[in-house]
This record gives sequence, structure tokens and C-alpha cells, in this order.
Amino acid sequence: MGINFHSEKARHTYTTRKADKSWIDIMSNLVTIEDVSNAVDIGCGGGIYSKALADMGIDSVTGIDFSESILEGARENCKEYENISFEYGNAYETGIGSESFNLVLERALIHHIKDIQGCFNEAYRILQENGVYIIQDRTPDDCLLAGNDNHIRGYFFKHYPRLAEKEKNCRICN
Ligand SMILES: C[S@@+](CC[C@H](N)C(=O)[O-])C[C@H]1O[C@@H](n2cnc3c(N)ncnc32)[C@H](O)[C@@H]1O
Repeated sequence: MGINFHSEKARHTYTTRKADKSWIDIMSNLVTIEDVSNAVDIGCGGGIYSKALADMGIDSVTGIDFSESILEGARENCKEYENISFEYGNAYETGIGSESFNLVLERALIHHIKDIQGCFNEAYRILQENGVYIIQDRTPDDCLLAGNDNHIRGYFFKHYPRLAEKEKNCRICN
């Protein structure tokens, strides 16, 4: 069984970390941030990357998630940011108007998505012409790297190989 994103217990699951500087550096190389006035973070979790986008200088950031519980955690986590807002929506049907955003981010989302094409279609619908669509996720090989300070899951997989198998299966495209 996968994680139940809708449980009250999931509220703080994705709020406790901060985006790593290496993520911000890579994003800065991929995107001319000065050209981006607004961004949407779909499957935003606790808003860690919504915050990072705002910190990079994007004027307005919207986080979308299909879990009300997770959205509550995100609002709490980002309460000091006036330029970040959160809305309920599904990656297949965000409820956002067409051609509304310069940048769409979907981080650690697509391995949860059954209808990848439906998700891509929605992202393209809400993206403005010449906008940027960033999808980031881990491959099975990446997840199964040996444990280290930045990848503590690797230690769990070493001691509980059954978990590694589960992880691999959930990362293989549906
Ligand atoms: C692994 S978390 C990633 C959170 C955040 N993007 C990050 O990188 O920290 C996946 C998030 O996607 C959300 N999610 C999963 N399926 C979704 C869907 N179909 N539509 C919208 N959100 C979804 C979950 O509620 C969860 O918050």
C-alpha cells in the first residue's frame, strides 16, 4: 500500500525540509528566472519548492495539491510568504485557467500518476506560450544508490531489501 496523502497524519510529511542549494543552482541554469513572473507547483506537498521558487525571485507562486490535509500543512509552512498561495486541484484537472502560468513545476509527482498523458495535457493547457515545464522525479537506479548523509533511504534498503523492491516497483512508469 502506498502513502495515504489524504490522511490527517500526512499533513506535515513534506514540510520539514528545505530545498538544497544544488536544486536552486540547477533551476537557475535551466530557467531565466527574470522572465518568470508566476509559477505553479503541482503536487506541491508542504510547499518546500514553492518557497524555493519564491526565494529565487518569482513574484507569484501557486501550489496545487489534491490533499486538503497536505495543503493545510503547506499553508502553515509558507505563512510568511505573501506571494505564495495554495489551492486544491488535481494534476489532471487543476481548475486553473488556460495559459495562466510562465512556469509549471511537477516535482516528485509523476511516479504517483496513472494517466501520464492526462497530466501532461493539463500542464500544457495552463502554460503560457514559451513557458517552461519542469518535471523532476527519481529513477529506480537513483533511489537504490547506497546510503549516505543525503540519501538515508539507502541504509533502509540495505537492511530491508523488500523495501527496495517496493520502491523500484513504484518508480517504474505506469
Ligand atoms: C512525494 S510528494 C512531493 C511533494 C513536493 N512536490 C516535493 O517535492 O516536496 C507528492 C505530492 O503530490 C500530491 N499528489 C499526488 N497525486 C496527485 C494528483 N493526482 N494531483 C495533485 N496532487 C497529487 C500528493 O498529495 C503529495 O503532496
